[in-house]
Amino acid sequence: MYSKPLVLIIIMVVLAGLVAPFIYARIGKGASGPPTLAAPPGGEKECVEPTAYMRRHHVDVLMKWRDAVVREGRLTYVASNGRQYVMSLTTTCIGCHSNKADFCDRCHDYVRVQPRCWECHTFPEKGGAAR
Ligand code: HEC
Ligand code: HEC
Ligand code: HEC
Repeated sequence: MYSKPLVLIIIMVVLAGLVAPFIYARIGKGASGPPTLAAPPGGEKECVEPTAYMRRHHVDVLMKWRDAVVREGRLTYVASNGRQYVMSLTTTCIGCHSNKADFCDRCHDYVRVQPRCWECHTFPEKGGAAR
């Protein structure tokens, strides 16, 4: 009488195999997929560099800006398309992305990073210099 459990196990394995794709499809829809990001409210069309570049390299841009301002005393960034920007996290980046919660934070929550910049750089006051 040892075949009964065996049959049950086989049935369960087959059932699991049939159901699994549907479960994965559901999980895929519910839990993953990048969050919808808010567009900058000002109607701006371009970031300081192309969007795809910013997605991957915005941290590099920010670190370059910080070093330029703090170590070299330079204030103006000339973008690859020739436009000029004041190198400031709060005034420039957040000046456009003023909906920080629906933009920076939403993406960071999704990828589980918590930049600690806001311990010093003030938000939402625009232009609030770090003290
Ligand atoms: C002149 C306005 C403006 C400024 C200044 C600006 N951005 Fe943007 N940013 C945009 C626009 C417009 C987009 C494109 C949004 C889109 O494609 O939906 C964008 C896209 C991005 C993206 C990619 C979002 C995505 O969909 O993957 C990141 C990250 C980003 N910006 C970060 C920054 C940071 C950091 C700074 C400061 C160094 C900054 N931005 C400065 C307007 C700006
Ligand atoms: C499209 C998603 C996305 C958006 C939008 C986005 N970030 Fe990020 N951010 C990331 C990812 C992913 C990382 C971690 C990986 C990396 O270093 O690129 C990160 C890391 C950072 C870090 C470094 C954190 C650390 O602890 O090292 C800073 C600073 C930062 N982001 C600033 C910003 C600011 C400011 C904005 C809004 C203007 C913003 N990001 C918008 C995806 C995003
Ligand atoms: C311990 C406090 C502190 C933290 C944390 C901090 N900063 Fe700063 N940051 C400063 C100070 C102070 C200055 C110089 C302010 C000035 O010159 O007006 C500065 C300047 C900058 C500047 C150039 C000037 C400006 O107004 O933006 C950038 C860009 C910058 N920081 C980016 C960042 C980013 C990105 C993070 C997070 C990864 C960060 N900082 C975290 C204190 C801090």
